[in-house]
Amino acid sequence: MKTRCRFLILLLLTLVAFGLSFAARGQARVTKERFGDTLDGKGVDIYTLTNSHGVEARIINYGGIVTSLKVPDRNGKLDDVVLGFDNLDAYLKGRTYLGAIIGRYGNRIAKGRFTLNGVEYKLAVNNGENHLHGGIKGFDKVVWNARVLKVPNGAALELTYLSKDGEEGYPGNLSVKVIYTLTNANELKVDYSATTDKDTVVNLTQHSYFNLAGQGNGDILNHRLFINAARFTPTDAGSIPTGELRRVRGTPFDFTRPTAIGARINQDYDQLKLGKGYDHNFVLNGRMGTLRQAARVYEPTTGRMMEVWTTEPGMQFYTGNFLDGTLTGKDGKVYQQRYGFCLETQHYPDSPNQPSFPTAVLRKGARYHTTTTFRFSTSKSEPPADRGPQAGSPLGVVDAGG
Ligand code: BGC
Repeated sequence: MKTRCRFLILLLLTLVAFGLSFAARGQARVTKERFGDTLDGKGVDIYTLTNSHGVEARIINYGGIVTSLKVPDRNGKLDDVVLGFDNLDAYLKGRTYLGAIIGRYGNRIAKGRFTLNGVEYKLAVNNGENHLHGGIKGFDKVVWNARVLKVPNGAALELTYLSKDGEEGYPGNLSVKVIYTLTNANELKVDYSATTDKDTVVNLTQHSYFNLAGQGNGDILNHRLFINAARFTPTDAGSIPTGELRRVRGTPFDFTRPTAIGARINQDYDQLKLGKGYDHNFVLNGRMGTLRQAARVYEPTTGRMMEVWTTEPGMQFYTGNFLDGTLTGKDGKVYQQRYGFCLETQHYPDSPNQPSFPTAVLRKGARYHTTTTFRFSTSKSEPPADRGPQAGSPLGVVDAGG
């Protein structure tokens, strides 16, 4: 009887200890708070997604903006690795797309015009003579409907938006859904889908500016970058692709071996001069539609590493060339030129006017669906880049933090 009793007490204690350790490690969760109101009085909420390792992403339903993303360094210290603002007001005024969902068309459409089914559509022009990132009021400037999703492997937020026929000049009522999932494998996964009631063009992307040393902590020139692309799309002076797919080999655009972002950024090379640094679309290796590695970035002082995986055919690499110290971001940090970099997975710029590029047309009744994953890990030193994967299964996570 006595032994049985002892056994039961022991069992009970073990269960309590197990329960406590599980709770300390934490379960993925989402909390919601009010962030502010738009000028026309729409309430905006901030959702905090936390995974089982304590990695945290904060997202607002204005613009689908990722306002902060806290990931561990090689010693387990969490830092916020994306640029952003502390309050809604700064986002309402901003034109730098910090952390936002971009649509209907991420990147540029020449002269804001394209022809589809024999009809010429005229879009809002907001970048010189061109259309950029969906126009004057793109998806980064609208309030999305938000819903917390229950998922088995992390924390997730679903955002939906109905873009009306004619919005910013685009045809068709476009019903858009973006699902952010912060997985327990320290990935921020972005799933985009859309349907339309009239043929249209769509190209959705995410515009986070990363600094893996922590937001506001200097420029990103020492980050080491690998891009899984043998070619890129050179542009004219207005950043519109010329149609050429230029080989990166022998140019400052060759990131097929990990190289510091700043190593060649000031070279006397036509495309770097035009873009004031890197601001170009890379033609990703491998088959579009399959999730494959697009890029990997390693920050040597913190050991943080970020891999980008995508089903998209292209990726805009932008080095924050137009940040100029006039923006004050979170915690009073001033964002100087090249304090952040963007890796915007996408269809190539100006695809609606370039028949040789993969099409960005979405037909009535068809479904648009793309996926991009930002995967965070740490490493004591920079691992060799796996230049192998043209398509197929993801690489193993190195020293997964947390
Ligand atoms: C574009 C840049 C533009 C920036 C605005 C990038 O996606 O390629 O040219 O200045 O967005 O934040």
